[in-house]
Amino acid sequence: MKLLVTGGAGFIGSNFVSYVLANTDDEVVVLDKLTYAGRRENLAAHEGDPRFSFIHGAIEDRETVDRAIAGCDAIVNFAAESHVDRSIDEPDAFIQTDIFGTQVLLEASRAVDLPRYLQISTDEVYGSIDEGTFTEESPIDPSSPYSASKAGGDLLVQAYHRTYGTPALITRASNNYGPFHYPEKLIPLCILNAFAGDKLPVYGDGMQVRNWLYVEDHCSGIYTALTRGEVGEVYNIGGPDECPNIDVVKRIVELTGCDESLIEFVTDRPGHDVRYSLSSEKIRGLGWQAQTSFDEGLERTVQWYRDNEAWWSPIRSGDYLEYYKRQYGHALNT
Ligand code: NAD
Ligand code: DAU
Repeated sequence: MKLLVTGGAGFIGSNFVSYVLANTDDEVVVLDKLTYAGRRENLAAHEGDPRFSFIHGAIEDRETVDRAIAGCDAIVNFAAESHVDRSIDEPDAFIQTDIFGTQVLLEASRAVDLPRYLQISTDEVYGSIDEGTFTEESPIDPSSPYSASKAGGDLLVQAYHRTYGTPALITRASNNYGPFHYPEKLIPLCILNAFAGDKLPVYGDGMQVRNWLYVEDHCSGIYTALTRGEVGEVYNIGGPDECPNIDVVKRIVELTGCDESLIEFVTDRPGHDVRYSLSSEKIRGLGWQAQTSFDEGLERTVQWYRDNEAWWSPIRSGDYLEYYKRQYGHALNT
């Protein structure tokens, strides 16, 4: 297959490109706007590979999408504004990319009768669950502008499938972590702050629970759904472990050897979902299984950040420092 991977310069997208090039004979075309979260460096290992090419552009730009889609067998759409806290401050870009951009991709797919379209979505569209687990039949009940815009994208995908017969399907994953994770998210932020002796900010009481999934396991789940999933269906891809945020941060303290007194409880996120939990039974029926426990994945992730200062040190400057000050009310030690 020749895959159009939109948002392929971001965290999960770039890991997916590496997964595909390493494990299959497929070709990959990446289309990415290179926002603050998208980085060509994430794809550096593939520059020069004849099976890889890169187009700089936005998914909401129909002309660029038409050029990128030519000769492709499938779209895997990772492109999104992805950070909940930023969506609370500035929701506009989320609507533009996550909803409108999805519609442009679906229209472009329809125009060329693209054989397959996979929308990368999130467990956050289901909202929060105190007990039990979400299945693919659970109602959509998003809490933040981010999750509402992702839910909007999902509904468009379902509507295109029902109305036009677009051969589209959706995966909804739980919280990812691993290499190339932008340090606005809890795990990489705390790892890098621990290295620098900066505070480790925990929202509220830190008892919110996330269902952590190592990014490589997510990538194998996506490829499983793409190649073995049924169009019109949704597939949840959940991590093997659930863990309260405070325990995640304490584990990072242990692994980095920093002082536990760096942990700082800060004002909670508005509309903060208390718990996510996903049933992955349906995708397991296609032969997928998460391979990496949270303990093992977190150890590997901390080691990756230790070994890749050249990747993260330019990020902890400029715009990121301004974002940090806005979000946390104080500066980082740099
Ligand atoms: P990310 O923010 O690291 O990457 C997003 C990528 O999309 C970046 O490369 C960015 O430049 C690109 N992009 C943004 N707007 C664009 C536009 N208009 N046109 C083209 N490219 C654009 O995000 P991520 O964490 O890698 O998430 C990827 C996808 O997976 C998203 O759709 C997200 O909703 C979903 N998801 C993420 C997680 C997670 O834990 N990170 C879990 C489940 C689902
Ligand atoms: O569940 C899947 C989602 O996971 C994806 O759809 C999103 O794109 C991705 O960003 C992620 O969303 P979260 O909001 O769960 O991830 P984040 O890393 O921002 O936060 C994880 C938890 O940690 C959450 O309960 C909020 C908390 N947190 C986060 C930050 C950044 C803190 O306590 N302190 C922080 O500084």
